[in-house]
Amino acid sequence: TDLSLIRNFSIIAHIDHGKSTLADRLIQATGGLTDREMSEQVLDNMDIEKERGITIKAQTVRLNYTAKDGKTYELNLMDTPGHVDFAYEVSRSLAACEGALLVVDAAQGVEAQTLANVYQSIEHDHEIVPVINKIDLPAAEPEKVKLEIEEIIGLDASEAVLTSAKSGIGIVEVLEAVVAKIPPPTGDRDRPLKAMLVDSWYDPYLGVVILVRVIDGVLKKGLEVKFMQGGTQHLVDRVGCFTPKRTDLPDIGPGEIGFITAQIKEVEQARVGDTITTVKNGATEALKGYKEVQPVVFCGLFPVDAADFEKLRESIGKLRLNDASFTYEAESSAALGFGFRAGFLGLLHLEIIQERLTREYDLDLITTAPSVVYRIQLSKSRTDPAAEILLHNPADYPDPNRIDRIDEPWIRAVIYTPDEYLGSILKLCQDRRGVQIDLTYVGGRAQVTYELPLNEVVFDFYDRLKSISRGYASFDYEQIGLREGDLVKMSILVNNEPVDALSMIVHRDVAEARGRGMCERLKDLIPRHLFKVPIQAAIGGKVIARETIAALRKDVTAKCYGGDISRKKKLLDKQKKGKAKMREYGNVSIPQEAFIAALRMG
Ligand code: GTP
Repeated sequence: TDLSLIRNFSIIAHIDHGKSTLADRLIQATGGLTDREMSEQVLDNMDIEKERGITIKAQTVRLNYTAKDGKTYELNLMDTPGHVDFAYEVSRSLAACEGALLVVDAAQGVEAQTLANVYQSIEHDHEIVPVINKIDLPAAEPEKVKLEIEEIIGLDASEAVLTSAKSGIGIVEVLEAVVAKIPPPTGDRDRPLKAMLVDSWYDPYLGVVILVRVIDGVLKKGLEVKFMQGGTQHLVDRVGCFTPKRTDLPDIGPGEIGFITAQIKEVEQARVGDTITTVKNGATEALKGYKEVQPVVFCGLFPVDAADFEKLRESIGKLRLNDASFTYEAESSAALGFGFRAGFLGLLHLEIIQERLTREYDLDLITTAPSVVYRIQLSKSRTDPAAEILLHNPADYPDPNRIDRIDEPWIRAVIYTPDEYLGSILKLCQDRRGVQIDLTYVGGRAQVTYELPLNEVVFDFYDRLKSISRGYASFDYEQIGLREGDLVKMSILVNNEPVDALSMIVHRDVAEARGRGMCERLKDLIPRHLFKVPIQAAIGGKVIARETIAALRKDVTAKCYGGDISRKKKLLDKQKKGKAKMREYGNVSIPQEAFIAALRMG
């Protein structure tokens, strides 16, 4: 294809501002699908994405659009994930495009997530076309939103396209703006092949499908290619694009976006950001910007029913086929039996995997408290040399006497909120050991920048933020490295026995409050026994909080009037059976639900 007839663009939008709806309209308007096929949003193709309305895996469609100038253009629309956890995938998608549509809800205005993505897009030298969507809403204020785009982002919004993706208004105008404003790609057919691996996923029929953006050269069937970062070689056996239906093509040339398959079995071998070139006469230099993504949040996943362990192993293995960004390894816990320790890109990623296991694989799971990765310097002991370890699991916390220093990951968060919620949000950040970096006001809204320890955020920060701002505050973050912290392991003891699944790493200053909270919750969650049950939170040998569950008054054996021992025993046995679904701790039975509930509210 003539390079001047190609346009590659993505859509930047805050969650719910209408990205998918607009994409669907563009597909419909260019005839990619019939009306009946349009009945479902096509770009969001996983169930969970649909239900939560969140785009997880990037998908790209090729649209053929005959513009008002009479020429037919090849428009490659790249869908990007809309959540902070998937920031690296977003960055690679952006790198594959020359421009972006910035979709802003006419009633909501600019939000923090939008900003982060816009800045990324600007960094990629994109031409950005503002689109103000949902103009059909009674609360729509397109003029105000234009001003916001100019003031906050610094983009000229005078020619913003006004749309209602829902009612199909302004769609042709969007397509014309793409053709007129977004520059065509550049590239050279005769140079050695250089293609960026933008995304990859597992397809049960095709194996691993790889989305590519060709920079120079041509990709075609039968070519022997190598992945420069991964170091592997493959035979290309199919090239094509999505319209959104899968369509085979003779080749993918410079400036074009499409997919290839090459008999690859695991997505792990096709890492986002890698450079694909030919084995013979290939490029010598890889594309810039390759990064290996590392999980940052870890938790234990255990089957409620121990008999489901094998099923869990299989299911996790299957999910992993399609998502190389989460990791897992077998783990065993005294409390929860056999399970896995899994690592995720963030909390949303964790929730998605957990939900898919529950829903698609029909597994009942217990998730332990999420934890981040700590770096610990250990001093020399009599038997071991000095060492540095990375701690993923509080259960592996080393002997405190050997700990010289602990570093924890920090993030820089940008929160964008209407004024009235600012006070409560500042308090929330302060309670979570946040350090305020910046606070500015733009048009009746505040933009706050905080540095926060990641371990204070992984629990329920996002939920809290949403609830205190009634959903209006938006939140975006990036990791900024490790910092030393006064961190300790807090154990929870039930009837004097530690419950490993409940132990966590906390900052010394907040340990007492967290410990007290946990003991109070457990007190309500654990049923009474025939004896008093102490519940304690402790750091090392020192108890920092304590609650006691009073003994059960009603003695089941009281009915037995005196001495019939065998009858007494029968009754006790019967009572024991009723507890089968509980875990025993120092003679105390803890119902399965108590673990979950205690952690959930953590
Ligand atoms: P993510 O995939 O989560 O990023 O969301 P999104 O930006 O793709 O939003 P989506 O297209 O799913 O739209 C969110 C909601 O807004 C849906 O309920 C849409 O029906 C609605 N919506 C989209 N466009 C319009 C519009 O022009 N007008 C009105 N009134 N509603 C719209």
